[in-house]
Amino acid sequence: MSNVIESIEAAVAFIRSRYSITPAVGIVLGSGLGSFTGEMKTELEIPYSEIPHFPVSTVEGHSGKLIFGELGGKKVVAMAGRFHYYEGYSTTEVVFPIRVMKYLGIRTLLISNAAGGTNLSYKVGDLMIIRDHISMLTINPLLGKNEPALGTRFPDMSEPYSKVLIAKAKTIAADAGIEVREGVYSGVTGPTFETRAEYAMLRLLGGDAVGMSTVQEVIAAVHMGLPVFAISVITDIGIREEENTITHEEVLQAAKDAEPRLTHIFKTLVAQL
Ligand code: HPA
Repeated sequence: MSNVIESIEAAVAFIRSRYSITPAVGIVLGSGLGSFTGEMKTELEIPYSEIPHFPVSTVEGHSGKLIFGELGGKKVVAMAGRFHYYEGYSTTEVVFPIRVMKYLGIRTLLISNAAGGTNLSYKVGDLMIIRDHISMLTINPLLGKNEPALGTRFPDMSEPYSKVLIAKAKTIAADAGIEVREGVYSGVTGPTFETRAEYAMLRLLGGDAVGMSTVQEVIAAVHMGLPVFAISVITDIGIREEENTITHEEVLQAAKDAEPRLTHIFKTLVAQL
């Protein structure tokens, strides 16, 4: 994809031809978190396969469409299904929908994901507000020629996750009696889950959770000056008893169980924006 801006504009023109309302918020739904959209008053769904230049999602648990509608009294666009580097997409493809949502007019980006806990005090089912991240050799999506229309060559990354949004979300969670953690997300490529030694290393390096998404999306958002709020659902604990294994099925199940709490926080946060 050599001319990113032209591709973004073509996707946006197509979407606008189907749906003329400007969404205020973009939402990325992680593995097992797709039924969140049941909370939305859906106005239009567009399968990724219909949108010019959109990659198509393949991983189990991701349905692959943009959903437009209302949530918490605001117009939102939700991505049901995201693109992962491990699926074979280029980093430009991974972040393409984020750029398209920004060009559609969103002013805030909410992200969810499933992640493994590397903090020893975390339990399966915990929600972790992402305070910061560590890119563990994930490929930076801004590598290559900078596109000044999107943002500066050297974006500041001192506050990738909006402190204002984090504070609001913590209040929302406390008011609802929902326990939340706040921590650092280590972004890896996957698709393997980590070895025992790798989970231990990530903990030592300051990570509280580890996952295979989000970091590239956040970098693209920060590049464009888009405020981000992100939550991980802790779906497995990398460091636990000997002989444990981790399966995609248990990740999806844990995400499903946590979904009502995540939904409450997202919905209330959107209402307060
Ligand atoms: N590691 C990496 N990615 C993940 C994990 C994990 O343990 N759980 C869910 N996504």
